[in-house]
Amino acid sequence: MIPRHKVDEILQATLIEEVIGEFVNLKKSGRQYKALSPFTNEKTPSFYVVPEKQIFKDFSSGKGGNAVTFLMEVEHFSYPEALRWLAQKYNIELEEQELTPEQKEAENERESLYIVSQFAEQYFKEQLHETDAGKSIGLSYFKQRGFLPETIEKFKLGYSPDEWRAFTDAAFEQGYQEKFLTATGLTKPSPKRQNEFYDGFKGRVIFPIHSLSGRAIGFGGRTLIKDKKVPKYLNSPESLIYNKSASLYGIYFAKGEIIKEDQCYLVEGYTDVISFHQAGISNTVASSGTALTRDQIKLIKRYTPNITLLYDGDEAGIKASFRGIDMILEEGMNVKMVSFPEGEDPDSFALKNTPEDIRSYLADNARDFIVSKTEILLRDSGKDPIKRASVIKDIVASIALIPEAISRSVYTRECANLLEIEEKVLVNELNKLRRDQFKQKNRQSPQQSHQGPPPDFPPPDFFEPPSGPPQEGAPQQQAPIKKDHNLSQERDLMRILINYGEKTIIFKDGENGDVEVEIAPFIFHELERDEMFFEDSAHLKLSNELVKQVEEGIWDVQKMVHSEDKEIASLMVDLMTQRHELHDWDSRQILVMGEETKLKRAVEGALYSFKFVKINNLIRENQEAIKQAYENNQLEEALNYQKKQVIYDKIKSSLAAPSGRIILG
Ligand code: UTP
Ligand code: MN
Repeated sequence: MIPRHKVDEILQATLIEEVIGEFVNLKKSGRQYKALSPFTNEKTPSFYVVPEKQIFKDFSSGKGGNAVTFLMEVEHFSYPEALRWLAQKYNIELEEQELTPEQKEAENERESLYIVSQFAEQYFKEQLHETDAGKSIGLSYFKQRGFLPETIEKFKLGYSPDEWRAFTDAAFEQGYQEKFLTATGLTKPSPKRQNEFYDGFKGRVIFPIHSLSGRAIGFGGRTLIKDKKVPKYLNSPESLIYNKSASLYGIYFAKGEIIKEDQCYLVEGYTDVISFHQAGISNTVASSGTALTRDQIKLIKRYTPNITLLYDGDEAGIKASFRGIDMILEEGMNVKMVSFPEGEDPDSFALKNTPEDIRSYLADNARDFIVSKTEILLRDSGKDPIKRASVIKDIVASIALIPEAISRSVYTRECANLLEIEEKVLVNELNKLRRDQFKQKNRQSPQQSHQGPPPDFPPPDFFEPPSGPPQEGAPQQQAPIKKDHNLSQERDLMRILINYGEKTIIFKDGENGDVEVEIAPFIFHELERDEMFFEDSAHLKLSNELVKQVEEGIWDVQKMVHSEDKEIASLMVDLMTQRHELHDWDSRQILVMGEETKLKRAVEGALYSFKFVKINNLIRENQEAIKQAYENNQLEEALNYQKKQVIYDKIKSSLAAPSGRIILG
């Protein structure tokens, strides 16, 4: 543990530009630094370091923070690891707090288990490459499976001799203690005789399992005997260093690529991971035998919100996994699935096809999870109305888990189509379910309950473009914003207006053919129709200017950057520097869509959210007014408010209606 005053000392000494400069090629640009994002494969720099504020902001990944955060992101350090790294860089001595004897012992035991595992990994590797049996049995097996030498090397594959105590004897000879050998399952006590031991992985080829930092923490051993009674794979038991439910096979080799590709492929086991990596698709990991756990999902989420599950052709297996996938949805992640042709698994498919073919197969066959689930269940239920009703319930239950309102509304629309029912029906079911869940949650933890709209968007960004006035001695945090929910929705709509206002989107209209509309006039028309306006003063001023432009038919947003009104100019810079966030935010909607469709969804989503929050605010205010009026015996007033209420309710229920309805006149 690092004492508080040391933490302060470290942070005092740290210069973010120096720290990040060790990882990224920073180029000075005015009072800040710019670089290509270390988190994505971008071509134009959108990674900023602002020395004045000691922060970084990466627009391409949305990450941002201070030097400690950066180290945690880029090196996947824990908080204390990042601090220790900084302490070393700035020559700050750390006299860490003494561990208790129990802590020390656990620490020592962990370390011993690591050391034993490292020894075993090395031993099995040597057996594979340097002994006759290893070469003729183990190595030739891997080769015959199609693993190339560099692949065998990368995954540190090995061979455990087909002798009762070959490994155990070697380990004892090196002085490794029995308790550590047995704790890792590398050695097993004889069930019959005391103080006799034999090898846990006798006669098997070995797949070491690595921690995030690449240390061996466990092993999988595959038998080479074709005997139904012999288990095909044996795995290390849980131990102080191997927590099965929180580990993923291949994560050490995959994490960098998962970040870069912003996508994680999840396969079944060792051989699938290895063949995929060999084919160059190294953002692939496996949950290895066990069903996917929440810890594993959280681990993936550290690197990307996008996960694609790869299945072999067997539909029963897919259905069995539905429950586990709900857990992923609950984490707010985007889930797709790909299934392989009958009789193929990712491993066999990867070995038979070229990397290009695999990539294009994945691209062509990735299906959104909820859509697929709907299709599969629907196919099973046929026309049976009772079965159909339960399908609807099941699908709604999945959609209800998604934390983001926009994604939920996209799905209700999509699934209503597939189920051939009115979207309203689905929305009703969904709302009912969410209400129940909300109530239930409140009952469980009353102190956590809070009223208000769902957390649709990330909070307003802390990053201020450097054009703003320097805030000397100002606190790091921005002042709280009044009506903060509104602001984030307003900001999103504004951002779309500024960055995409002149672009067009297409609405399908069966009778009259497709209708192409420009985004800015479309948005203003929509707001006007429902009598909703921007409330934040800067947003309102800017939108008035933009409405004027629309009316005059001259769209020139660039002009507004140089507006004499400082508030507008600064807002413009802010909106424009956040251009990338549309992409990021939008990418969380997982449907495979072309650029234009994406933009359309973004516009509809932002409008929907904007109106949703506004109408709820209006309704709340109006209900308060009704109550007041009654209390003051102003019956006529009360009646007026009641009438308003009817209109608001109408608007609210129309919000969920399909989009085709709005056509610019
Ligand atoms: P497979 O049965 O395809 O394993 O399971 P394999 O080694 O490729 O065998 P063959 O050659 O096709 O018959 C695929 C993955 O499932 C996991 C392993 O990780 C394996 O890589 N698995 C399979 C187990 O963990 N335990 C088992 O008993 C079977
Ligand atoms: Mn196989």
